[in-house]
Amino acid sequence: MDTSKSFTIGVLTSGGDAPGMNPCIRAVVRTAMTHGAKVLGVVDGFEGLLNGEFRPLGARDVGGILQRGGTILQTSRSPRFMEPHGQREAIRHMNEVGMDGLVVIGGEGSLRGAYALHQQGIKVIGIPGSIDNDVWGTSISIGTDTAMNTIMDAVDKLRDTASSHHRAFLIETMGRNCGYLAAMTGIVCGAEIVLIPEVQVSFEEVAKTIEEAYKRGKTHAIIINAEGSGHRTTDLAKRLDDMDVGFKTRVTILGHIQRGGSPTAYDRLLASRMGLKAVDALLAGKSGVMTGLVERGIEYVPLEEVISHKREANFEYYEMTKVLAR
Ligand code: F6P
Repeated sequence: MDTSKSFTIGVLTSGGDAPGMNPCIRAVVRTAMTHGAKVLGVVDGFEGLLNGEFRPLGARDVGGILQRGGTILQTSRSPRFMEPHGQREAIRHMNEVGMDGLVVIGGEGSLRGAYALHQQGIKVIGIPGSIDNDVWGTSISIGTDTAMNTIMDAVDKLRDTASSHHRAFLIETMGRNCGYLAAMTGIVCGAEIVLIPEVQVSFEEVAKTIEEAYKRGKTHAIIINAEGSGHRTTDLAKRLDDMDVGFKTRVTILGHIQRGGSPTAYDRLLASRMGLKAVDALLAGKSGVMTGLVERGIEYVPLEEVISHKREANFEYYEMTKVLAR
């Protein structure tokens, strides 16, 4: 489209960093350049937008970042941007530099911010980037696959010690209010039990499951506790030890290690596809949509729908963890 010659696209990363944000920025820049459009990187997410912190990004500026975790643009959670005053400042700065459209890469809160700008007439495309995989409208977000692989590597190592010492390891995963990371890694790491925010499980049930695993002759037990499950990991461990369920317990809270590291091939591909589709959308005059992975294709899903739906847990996978723990 010819008008793309003078088109200037802003790109920002917002909320918790997620592995794959860099390949996504790279795809945005290089797709834009292919169409003769310019790109301005916004530093520090929405904070940078309302402070007017922009930096031109060319093809060489995004060289060598495909394999890097984190985000070269840096990120923030910006309560100021959620206020009308903050959004007004942001729009003022965008107008000053002649920004014609914006790509927002981030999780649920960031996509809400993107929608707020769209409602005020700014052309915005959202891209789901969050290890939590809690965004509705896409089967997976950028960063989730890498985080799952990081958790799997950690649990595989912990299992070596767990089985050598006949221990139960309680491993806490991130995910805020979403049990996706815990349930999926429960399957791929062979957990005895998985605790997620979407399903309430009593302490007694946890204790019974672990004691029965001991009686069945298991050499170790893996308990994956999602951070929002309602059980504090250290309390669970203490109570299990006090009660004596066969195994002695140890606790590992994986924490922010889950957010770092080089993106997997899957995340690099997903990020590249979504970055390209986001620029295509802006140049075609679209706004107020998110790039979502729907079946095997990248579709444009209205941001209004994305932010008004809560992603449901996949109970089939949750049930699977129980069957496979025999
Ligand atoms: O949304 C990503 C996430 O890592 C959540 O899983 C976690 O609850 C939260 O961010 C942690 O936030 P912070 O980086 O501010 O500690």
